[in-house]
Amino acid sequence: MKTVIRNGRIVTAVDDYHADILVDGEQIVMIARSIDVQADRIIDAKGRLVIPGGIDPHTHMELPFGGTSASDDFNTGTVAAAHGGTTTIIDFAVQGKGQSLNQALDVWFQKAEGKTSIDYGFHLICTDLPDERLPELKSLIDQGVTSFKLFMAYPGVFLVDDGTIYKAMVAAGENGGLICMHAENGVVIDVLVKRALAAGHTAPKYHALTRPTRAEAEGVHRAIALAEIAKSPVYIVHLSSSDALEEVTRARDMGIPAFAETCPQYLFLDYSVYEQKGFEGAKYVMTPPIREKWNQDKLWRGLQYNDLQVVSTDHCPFCMKEQKELGKDDFSKIPNGGPGVEHRMSLIYNGGVVGGRISVNRFVEIVSTAPAKIFGLFPKKGTIAVGSDADIVIFDPNEEMTISAKTHHMNVDYSAYEGVKVRGVTKTVLSRGELVIEEGRYVGRKGSGRFLKRGLAFSPR
Ligand code: URP
Ligand code: ZN
Ligand code: ZN
Repeated sequence: MKTVIRNGRIVTAVDDYHADILVDGEQIVMIARSIDVQADRIIDAKGRLVIPGGIDPHTHMELPFGGTSASDDFNTGTVAAAHGGTTTIIDFAVQGKGQSLNQALDVWFQKAEGKTSIDYGFHLICTDLPDERLPELKSLIDQGVTSFKLFMAYPGVFLVDDGTIYKAMVAAGENGGLICMHAENGVVIDVLVKRALAAGHTAPKYHALTRPTRAEAEGVHRAIALAEIAKSPVYIVHLSSSDALEEVTRARDMGIPAFAETCPQYLFLDYSVYEQKGFEGAKYVMTPPIREKWNQDKLWRGLQYNDLQVVSTDHCPFCMKEQKELGKDDFSKIPNGGPGVEHRMSLIYNGGVVGGRISVNRFVEIVSTAPAKIFGLFPKKGTIAVGSDADIVIFDPNEEMTISAKTHHMNVDYSAYEGVKVRGVTKTVLSRGELVIEEGRYVGRKGSGRFLKRGLAFSPR
């Protein structure tokens, strides 16, 4: 199958020019001022951006959490992602206590196989790493699962101690792998949560009030110090606050290989979401919580100066009905997480490029190229070049849309951005040369997505 994309403005992390693209099968085979070949399909991209498919390196389809599971599965979640211009997700498989890392991975392979409409990779969340399991990290890296998430939060569920973190960082670093850190002092947060509940504070806003930014900053500081001792890189996930960012900035200024992502919810929402009436604040119970508004400018500055490299979503939706409601009388029982995979590209384009905060090249870099590089997918993914996968988004930079649960494709009964108007809309999407979205309509194939065996982004020590 040959496709020609004509008249578009090709934008990558470094380029911005008008040219045609020839896709043959799954790959880009030619880029030229004008391509005049016999093709099966011609797409006119006049007036539109032609950008590499988005890569969201932080999603949780079907994540079991707090007695329920995230409401998007690999089918609904990847269809929604495609609608928003994301053509690759890296989801998190979770190791149960006593399970081998391969057993855990197999469970997630089964959840995803035959269901996705876009390509996917896995990180592995390690919850139980006695010394005899440490060699399994190398085995996973050899299978293309080259990154691992460890938690400093959620004692009794996900938390692992500092010794385990250090040992995992050494084992990952020696083999070119990467530790992704949920950096929050969960032990202290647990005390704050228990005291709040004992004082009768049960409303959703206490989720935020018991998770101070200093608890996040302390976690980030500790994660970076441990990575330094282990001589390994570290990637801080879902960084939410200026306090935490200062730790990353300091480390990077010292030449330490510390990387970090933030998410749209921390760039566009603020603490006032928890002060809405009734149980509405539960929609925003996610970890870390939404912070005070002044943090947003600091995060944008982090993106501008590359102290933050990536915008992911931490997509982990739970419906208000029957799921968030589990915490009606106790905020600590509200399943943590929110929806986001569908609107990341439009939100960041609108807030970043239209808002004058970042260039269009930097937009492509933070939503596609940088995650491809950090997670071992570049240049197969994350750019538009001859030989790269034909994961291509045709994006209308002028069209406006209003975000709403009534029109979104995520399997969740609310939107965190209900009524928000954005400029910049994904129109057409190719995933490895296959049309998935055509002028806003899903035309893809359930099961066409492929598992991505990721390469090494860091030299083994
Ligand atoms: O609230 C969140 N972030 N839920 C998903 C799990 C995690 O910590 O990423
Ligand atoms: Zn986390
Ligand atoms: Zn997460």
